[in-house]
Amino acid sequence: MERTYLMIKPDGVQRNLIGEVVSRFEKKGFTLVGAKLMTLSKETAETHYAEHKERPFFGDLVKFITSGPVFAMVWEGVNVISTARTMMGTTNPAEAGPGTIRGDYGVQVSMNVIHGSDSPASAEREISIFFNENELNEYEKTV
Ligand code: CMP
Repeated sequence: MERTYLMIKPDGVQRNLIGEVVSRFEKKGFTLVGAKLMTLSKETAETHYAEHKERPFFGDLVKFITSGPVFAMVWEGVNVISTARTMMGTTNPAEAGPGTIRGDYGVQVSMNVIHGSDSPASAEREISIFFNENELNEYEKTV
Protein backbone atom coordinates (compact mmCIF):
# COMPACT_ATOMS: atom_id res chain seq x y z
CA MET A 1 0.00 0.00 0.00
CA GLU A 2 1.27 3.50 -0.86
CA ARG A 3 2.55 5.76 1.92
CA THR A 4 3.32 9.47 2.08
CA TYR A 5 5.01 11.85 4.46
CA LEU A 6 2.90 14.83 5.57
CA MET A 7 4.09 17.52 7.97
CA ILE A 8 2.05 20.28 9.60
CA LYS A 9 4.45 23.21 9.69
CA PRO A 10 5.07 25.51 12.70
CA ASP A 11 2.37 27.95 11.50
CA GLY A 12 -0.23 25.16 11.36
CA VAL A 13 0.73 23.84 14.82
CA GLN A 14 0.64 27.31 16.38
CA ARG A 15 -2.72 28.11 14.80
CA ASN A 16 -4.22 24.92 16.29
CA LEU A 17 -4.81 23.31 12.90
CA ILE A 18 -3.48 19.82 13.74
CA GLY A 19 -6.95 18.44 14.45
CA GLU A 20 -8.48 20.06 11.37
CA VAL A 21 -5.79 18.73 9.03
CA VAL A 22 -5.75 15.23 10.54
CA SER A 23 -9.54 15.14 10.35
CA ARG A 24 -9.52 15.84 6.61
CA PHE A 25 -7.24 12.89 5.87
CA GLU A 26 -9.16 10.62 8.26
CA LYS A 27 -12.49 11.50 6.67
CA LYS A 28 -11.07 11.02 3.18
CA GLY A 29 -10.39 7.41 4.17
CA PHE A 30 -6.62 7.33 4.55
CA THR A 31 -4.93 5.48 7.40
CA LEU A 32 -2.58 7.16 9.86
CA VAL A 33 0.37 4.84 10.45
CA GLY A 34 2.76 7.18 12.31
CA ALA A 35 2.69 10.62 13.95
CA LYS A 36 4.74 12.77 16.31
CA LEU A 37 5.20 16.36 17.41
CA MET A 38 8.85 17.30 17.03
CA THR A 39 11.16 20.29 16.75
CA LEU A 40 13.53 19.86 13.82
CA SER A 41 17.27 20.42 14.12
CA LYS A 42 18.92 22.61 11.48
CA GLU A 43 20.62 19.47 10.11
CA THR A 44 17.36 17.54 9.74
CA ALA A 45 15.68 20.54 8.08
CA GLU A 46 18.58 20.95 5.63
CA THR A 47 18.47 17.24 4.78
CA HIS A 48 14.72 17.29 4.26
CA TYR A 49 14.85 20.38 2.04
CA ALA A 50 18.16 19.50 0.29
CA GLU A 51 16.64 19.87 -3.19
CA HIS A 52 16.03 23.58 -2.46
CA LYS A 53 19.59 24.26 -1.26
CA GLU A 54 20.42 26.64 -4.11
CA ARG A 55 17.13 28.55 -3.94
CA PRO A 56 17.23 32.12 -2.55
CA PHE A 57 14.65 31.27 0.11
CA PHE A 58 16.53 28.23 1.49
CA GLY A 59 17.93 30.02 4.58
CA ASP A 60 14.54 31.46 5.53
CA LEU A 61 12.86 28.11 4.85
CA VAL A 62 15.21 26.29 7.26
CA LYS A 63 14.85 29.07 9.86
CA PHE A 64 11.05 28.88 9.67
CA ILE A 65 10.71 25.10 9.74
CA THR A 66 12.98 24.89 12.83
CA SER A 67 11.26 27.83 14.60
CA GLY A 68 8.74 25.66 16.48
CA PRO A 69 7.34 22.14 16.59
CA VAL A 70 6.03 20.43 13.48
CA PHE A 71 3.55 17.53 13.44
CA ALA A 72 5.15 14.76 11.39
CA MET A 73 2.88 12.07 9.95
CA VAL A 74 2.89 9.03 7.71
CA TRP A 75 -0.39 8.25 5.94
CA GLU A 76 -1.26 5.17 3.93
CA GLY A 77 -3.85 4.50 1.20
CA VAL A 78 -4.58 4.14 -2.50
CA ASN A 79 -2.86 6.99 -4.42
CA VAL A 80 -2.25 8.79 -1.11
CA ILE A 81 0.76 10.74 -2.46
CA SER A 82 -1.05 12.54 -5.26
CA THR A 83 -4.44 12.73 -3.53
CA ALA A 84 -2.86 14.35 -0.45
CA ARG A 85 -1.19 16.92 -2.74
CA THR A 86 -4.58 17.70 -4.30
CA MET A 87 -6.13 18.07 -0.85
CA MET A 88 -3.26 20.39 0.21
CA GLY A 89 -3.60 22.75 -2.79
CA THR A 90 -0.83 24.58 -4.63
CA THR A 91 2.38 25.63 -2.84
CA ASN A 92 1.34 29.29 -2.85
CA PRO A 93 -1.80 29.52 -0.68
CA ALA A 94 -2.84 32.69 -2.52
CA GLU A 95 -3.39 30.53 -5.61
CA ALA A 96 -4.72 27.43 -3.85
CA GLY A 97 -8.38 26.68 -4.49
CA PRO A 98 -11.06 26.95 -1.83
CA GLY A 99 -11.63 23.63 -0.13
CA THR A 100 -7.94 22.80 -0.11
CA ILE A 101 -5.92 23.02 3.12
CA ARG A 102 -3.67 25.82 1.89
CA GLY A 103 -6.55 27.57 0.12
CA ASP A 104 -8.63 27.56 3.29
CA TYR A 105 -5.93 28.29 5.89
CA GLY A 106 -2.86 29.92 4.33
CA VAL A 107 -1.89 33.29 2.87
CA GLN A 108 1.90 33.18 2.46
CA VAL A 109 4.09 30.80 0.43
CA SER A 110 6.55 30.50 3.30
CA MET A 111 3.85 29.72 5.88
CA ASN A 112 1.70 27.34 3.89
CA VAL A 113 0.54 25.10 6.77
CA ILE A 114 1.57 21.70 5.41
CA HIS A 115 4.24 19.82 3.47
CA GLY A 116 3.55 16.65 1.51
CA SER A 117 5.83 14.34 -0.46
CA ASP A 118 5.62 14.92 -4.22
CA SER A 119 6.55 11.44 -5.53
CA PRO A 120 7.06 7.84 -4.37
CA ALA A 121 10.84 8.41 -4.23
CA SER A 122 10.41 11.56 -2.10
CA ALA A 123 7.94 9.78 0.16
CA GLU A 124 10.37 6.95 0.84
CA ARG A 125 13.23 9.37 1.47
CA GLU A 126 11.24 11.72 3.69
CA ILE A 127 9.61 8.95 5.76
CA SER A 128 13.08 7.54 6.50
CA ILE A 129 14.35 10.98 7.63
CA PHE A 130 11.61 11.41 10.22
CA PHE A 131 10.58 7.91 11.31
CA ASN A 132 12.21 4.66 12.37
CA GLU A 133 10.54 1.51 11.03
CA ASN A 134 9.34 0.60 14.57
CA GLU A 135 7.42 3.89 14.80
CA LEU A 136 5.20 2.94 11.85
CA ASN A 137 2.11 0.90 12.68
CA GLU A 138 0.87 -1.88 10.44
CA TYR A 139 -2.83 -2.57 11.12
CA GLU A 140 -6.07 -3.76 9.60
CA LYS A 141 -9.17 -1.65 10.22
CA THR A 142 -11.65 -3.93 12.02
CA VAL A 143 -14.33 -1.40 13.00
P1 CMP B 1 7.04 22.79 0.76
O1 CMP B 1 6.03 21.97 0.05
O2 CMP B 1 7.28 22.47 2.19
O3 CMP B 1 8.43 22.70 -0.03
C1 CMP B 1 9.36 23.77 -0.11
C2 CMP B 1 8.87 24.99 0.58
O4 CMP B 1 9.57 26.19 0.32
C3 CMP B 1 7.46 25.27 0.12
O5 CMP B 1 6.58 24.32 0.67
C4 CMP B 1 7.26 26.72 0.61
O6 CMP B 1 6.65 26.78 1.87
C5 CMP B 1 8.69 27.23 0.77
N1 CMP B 1 8.94 28.48 0.07
C6 CMP B 1 9.33 29.61 0.65
N2 CMP B 1 9.48 30.59 -0.24
C7 CMP B 1 9.17 30.06 -1.45
C8 CMP B 1 9.12 30.59 -2.78
N3 CMP B 1 9.44 31.85 -3.04
N4 CMP B 1 8.74 29.75 -3.77
C9 CMP B 1 8.43 28.45 -3.51
N5 CMP B 1 8.47 27.91 -2.27
C10 CMP B 1 8.82 28.71 -1.25
